[in-house]
Parts: sequence; structure tokens; C-alpha cells
Amino acid sequence: MGWRFPTAILFYSPMPTLHWDSKQALPATSGDLRLDSVVYPLAAGFPHASAVNQVILGDNLNVMTALRSEYAGRINLIYTDPPFFTNRHFHARVGRGEDSRRPKDWHLAKGYTDDWPNLDAYLDMLYARLKSMYHLLAPNGTLYLHLDWHANSYARLLLDEIFGSERLLNEIVWVYHGPSPIRSAFNRKHDTILVYTKGDSYTFNTDDVRLPYDPTTIKTFASSARAGFGKVPDLERGKVPEDWWYFPVVARLHNERTGYPTQKPQALLERIIRASSNPGDIVADFFSGSGTTAAAACLLDRQFIVVDGAWRAVQTTISRLVGQTRQPFRFFIEASDVLPPESLVGLSQDEHPFLAGGRVSLPPNLLDQLDYWEAGCLAGDGIFYSAAQATRPYRQAARAPKGLPASLDISPILEKTNPTNVTVRLVAIDGRRWMIIL
Ligand SMILES: C[S@@+](CC[C@H](N)C(=O)[O-])C[C@H]1O[C@@H](n2cnc3c(N)ncnc32)[C@H](O)[C@@H]1O
Repeated sequence: MGWRFPTAILFYSPMPTLHWDSKQALPATSGDLRLDSVVYPLAAGFPHASAVNQVILGDNLNVMTALRSEYAGRINLIYTDPPFFTNRHFHARVGRGEDSRRPKDWHLAKGYTDDWPNLDAYLDMLYARLKSMYHLLAPNGTLYLHLDWHANSYARLLLDEIFGSERLLNEIVWVYHGPSPIRSAFNRKHDTILVYTKGDSYTFNTDDVRLPYDPTTIKTFASSARAGFGKVPDLERGKVPEDWWYFPVVARLHNERTGYPTQKPQALLERIIRASSNPGDIVADFFSGSGTTAAAACLLDRQFIVVDGAWRAVQTTISRLVGQTRQPFRFFIEASDVLPPESLVGLSQDEHPFLAGGRVSLPPNLLDQLDYWEAGCLAGDGIFYSAAQATRPYRQAARAPKGLPASLDISPILEKTNPTNVTVRLVAIDGRRWMIIL
């Protein structure tokens, strides 16, 4: 009897994998990314400085497919915070001076939907997108996937399959506190961030994320150097953070609050970006919401690509960035069907912006309706170059500037472009948009 290959080995899979009836990597259509505008916050670099950073409105699967030709294997860090499978609809609080103690006074607008017919549909969505992210990651890149108890166990199996279980770097638990209606279980006050690296060599800047030791640890070592079973920590240098992190949720009184639902704390993103990327690296977020990743990346001199399918999310991101950075960025649109219609309908003649003495001004009756406005010039190819922006402050706290500025200095535009191209774009509190060539 000769040697026979044991058939069982042919089918042996080293890892259990997750299966569901419709499992397949959804075919993605490559999105057609149309450059809508280049935004120069406070005219810095207007109109020629190159804008490497990108804010993109569209379905992230189509967008990621479109980005492949330029970015496959090039993105150093992806942080991403998809819908959690909560089966809820989230609203944004917009307008002015929201007070969470008086819900009747809130102005609510559509935020985003996290509602699925069943778990299979959710997994179909997530699986295809995680695979696309894997393709875009650099060989030494890292993915941070932010979820909670609703779906994190399924996601971990998907990531084990895509990256390999040996590439799990950390399971970070973000703990927070806050009110909860739950009376029949412990209050659910943590999220899980699964961290996978693409290869076994990856960026991890230990010294950029160190924290001071707890005062009790310092006291213990001051009283006895033998307290650490012979290991004396470098108390001055600080410690590498544990894999559980406390950051407060972004609450009503926090200046970073945008009103966009489920906004994550910027400090959380700063720690992730410092640890897993270097200045100049490309950081991406494909479920970017209010733009927390973009804001943190700018602050830390990283390049960013952020994508969201909701108009309210990208508009919040744009307003947030112009208040926080001097770096220009490009705004692309993949899916024009998610934009509210742009028109002059509903804008009467006495509501038109006017140009005088190097400034564009808005009449008060128009100003009251707006959340954001900008002035710039419209090029022949239809691309808008924004050189001056005004944002309604989200909070009306004592130290926050009051209201939306009624006029903008456009002298940088007049110096550099044909004054007949001066154009104003307006975004209303309810999301409507207008564009007017003055
Ligand atoms: C949990 S929120 C992200 C919050 C964000 N981390 C922040 O700090 O504001 C999830 C976001 O994913 C977006 N989203 C859901 N499905 C999407 C899709 N297929 N393509 C692009 N964005 C999507 C939603 O519009 C929503 O803004």
C-alpha cells in the first residue's frame, strides 16, 4: 500500500471564519470623483498653493475603488468609525446655542442612518469596505476600527480573515461615562477599537504617546525601589498607555462639539495618529462624520483623506476645518444625489449679498438663515476657489464669538483674480445651498 495524501488536510483551514448567506465582497463601482472646490482657509496660499488634503462626499466603497489607482498600498493609517449596527436614526443639532436640557429648543436635522434589515446586510456592508481599506493601506500601515458591543465580535473575525489573526495589534477599550436609561443591566459605557497592522513591520511611536505615571506609583517607588519586583520604571519618561483609555465623550459644553451625532473626541484621534503615523504621512477615515480625524491630522501635520456619504457630515467637516487650519483642502463629490439642490429659489432680491470696499456683506434677513458662507471665485471649469469663510459658532457660550459674521474681506480675491468672477456660496441652517456670482 503506497502513501496516500490525507484528504482532510486539503480542506484544513487554520482559522475559523465567519459565514453568512450573502457573504461576498460586494462588487464596487468606481466612483467618479468630481472636484467641486478648493478651500483656502482665511485665503492662506490662495489660489495657487497645492491642496493635498481631501474631503470627499460619497459612498465610501465607490470612493475607495476610485482612489485605488493613486493610493493602493499608500495610506499609512486608517481610523474608521462606521455605523455600529444600532438600528437607529441619528440627528444632527444645528443652528445655534443648543441646550441639551431644553430639547424643545433644539434644531434637528438629518444626520445619518444606522438601520439594517438584518445582521447579514450590515456584514455585507462592512466586509466589502474592510477589504477595500486593506488594499489601500501601506505595507507598514495600521487600521483602527471603532465599534461597540453590537458588532465588534463579528468585525474581529472579519479582520482576522482579511489581515490574519496574527496582525491584531491591540483591542483598545475606550471608556467614558454619562447618563443612561438602562435599569436592567450594567450601563454600557465603552467602545472597542480593533487595531490591525498590515505587515509585521509597522509604525508605533511609543515615546509620542507616553503618559505620566500615576501619583500612587511614583509614591510607591519613592518609598521602595524594590516595589516593582526588581524592575524600576523610568518615572520621568512616563509610561506607555494601557489598552484601555478614558476620554470624556464630546458633551454640550465642549468647545469641539459640532452638533453632528456620535462625534468622537479629538484627543482620542490625536493619540491614535501620534502613535501610528509620522508627520507628512497619509491618514484616512472612510466614515468620517464631523471630521474629527481630519481636524486631528491637520493639527499633527499629517495629510488626510476623509470620506462621508452624508452632506451634513462633510459640511460640518468643512466648517470645522476652516476654523482650525490654514492648510488648503480639496472637496470632491462622488454622489451628487446626496446633495441638497443648489439654487437661488427662495432668495429674494433684497436678500442678495453685496460687494463694497473690498468686502462682501450679507443683509441681516439672509444672515439669520445661514450656518456657513464663503466667498471666492468660480473658474471656467466650474471649480470654486474659496478664499474667505464664515461659520456660525456651534456654542453660544460666554467666551464663544457671537453669531455668524455678516461680512468677509475679499481683498485677496480681488488682488489675484478677475473681480467679475467673485462668487458667494451660502449654506442654510436647514442644509439648503445657494451660489451667487456677484
Ligand atoms: C459613527 S459616524 C462617524 C463619526 C465620526 N467618527 C466623528 O467623530 O464625527 C459614522 C458615519 O459614517 C457615515 N457613513 C455610513 N455609511 C457610509 C457609506 N457607505 N459611505 C460613506 N459614509 C458612510 C455616516 O454618514 C456617518 O457620518
